[in-house]
Amino acid sequence: MGQNEVKVGLLGLGTVGTGVVQLLNEHVQKIEHQVGGAVRVTKALVADKTKDRGDIDLNDLELTESAAEVINDTEIDVVIELIGGVEEARQLISDALANKKQVVTANKDLIAMYGAELLEKAAENSCDLFYEASVAGGIPIIRSLTEGLSADQITKMMGIVNGTTNYILTKMNDEGRSYDDVLQEAKDLGFAESDPTADVEGLDAARKMAILATLGFSMNVDLEDVDVRGITTISAEDMDYSEQLGYTIKLIGLAERDTETGKVDVSVQPALLPADHQLAAVKNEYNAVYVYGEAVGETMFYGPGAGSLPTATAVVSDLITVVKNNNLGVSGRSMVPPQFEKSLKSDEDIRSKYFLRMHVKDETGVFDEITSLFSKHDISFEKILQVPLAKNGAGKAEVVMITHETSRTSYEVIYEKLKSMESIHELESSYRVEGGTSE
Ligand code: NAP
Ligand code: HSE
Repeated sequence: MGQNEVKVGLLGLGTVGTGVVQLLNEHVQKIEHQVGGAVRVTKALVADKTKDRGDIDLNDLELTESAAEVINDTEIDVVIELIGGVEEARQLISDALANKKQVVTANKDLIAMYGAELLEKAAENSCDLFYEASVAGGIPIIRSLTEGLSADQITKMMGIVNGTTNYILTKMNDEGRSYDDVLQEAKDLGFAESDPTADVEGLDAARKMAILATLGFSMNVDLEDVDVRGITTISAEDMDYSEQLGYTIKLIGLAERDTETGKVDVSVQPALLPADHQLAAVKNEYNAVYVYGEAVGETMFYGPGAGSLPTATAVVSDLITVVKNNNLGVSGRSMVPPQFEKSLKSDEDIRSKYFLRMHVKDETGVFDEITSLFSKHDISFEKILQVPLAKNGAGKAEVVMITHETSRTSYEVIYEKLKSMESIHELESSYRVEGGTSE
């Protein structure tokens, strides 16, 4: 990498790739000042060279459909991987590192699954591998954990880390719009993954939480360790009742570490938050992450979680760090391996409050039968509602309750017993309740 011009090869020129080119064009002087020389994208891998790239000024950037032309170009110093997916991206990054190229990626799928392997390979080749854009788009959360909060012991991270689902839930809740209509809009705006199933089923958020937990708790947390549930079963009724009870439903990523045992628990699920909780006010594609440290207490990071330029900001900031490290002769030396062996909490140790909505027989004694089952298992209620069912519900009533905190084990035992009760027609929905009470 010369002092005067750094040459960059892009793998992918879609939503984020075009944002990177645009940012490098628009902030050229600022970037040159940071790194002490010019930074130029010389080649970009695309799937289809004939595709219209819109208004973006590509300068003399060469498009290619051959990854080898980028990876094996001896002139290219830094490779930025933005094609997404796992196996092909893994191979390309591995080859780029073997060719002694510095690497930046926004690929959380890949980092959540093969981050440790690729970081090791980068260090072996004295190369940097940075991935700030892989979690929470434009929010510098990874650098905050690995640098800003590196002196502290992190005990909990809780946040909204998927822009697409937050966009969908916001528009459904605030504007009464349909799920399908808003999902299409999130795709058109470039927030959703190429296969949005990963967004709506919670997998994208789970990958991000695995990355945050690995860094925050200094422990290799794998994707399989994250308990995942997406937003596809949330109904308008769930949203309405949540609101009546003083809550809002959000897709929440949660990572907690027990300070005594060091055991951790990582999950992603739709959860009710008090309507006045700060995360409840995070709307549209915005993300926010609370990080609690033993010494610092509570910190909160907020910003756009998806989109072309916000994500490109994180990618280009990584690029700047890569070039600075190279100039200082410290490439490949910033990776710190995990300090602790992985240790996960059992279901008995995972505690939460729960929201439960069910259709029951509208008969005397049913309500008592249900509440006494909860009492028998030592679970009490924070709130409870019973209303006759208006539509197609002759003889049925709807019961909606929020429990006090209990273990996941006790809640699952109760849930199974409720399912087999004759007086209950249907258990309609059940969610965790996080972030304190609604009053
Ligand atoms: P995208 O819009 O779908 O762009 C993908 C680009 O890669 C396109 O230019 C495509 O070429 C090219 N490409 C895909 N597969 C290829 C292949 N096999 N060979 C050659 N070229 C290939 O995706 P994106 O939204 O920019 O996302 C890129 C990465 O950033 C993903 O890992 C994503 O998870 C991550 N990310 C995205 C966001 C966001 O807001 N979008 C935010 C944070 C992180 P064509 O243009 O010719 O089709
Ligand atoms: N699909 C992702 C989201 C992109 O909606 O959050 C940002 O990682």
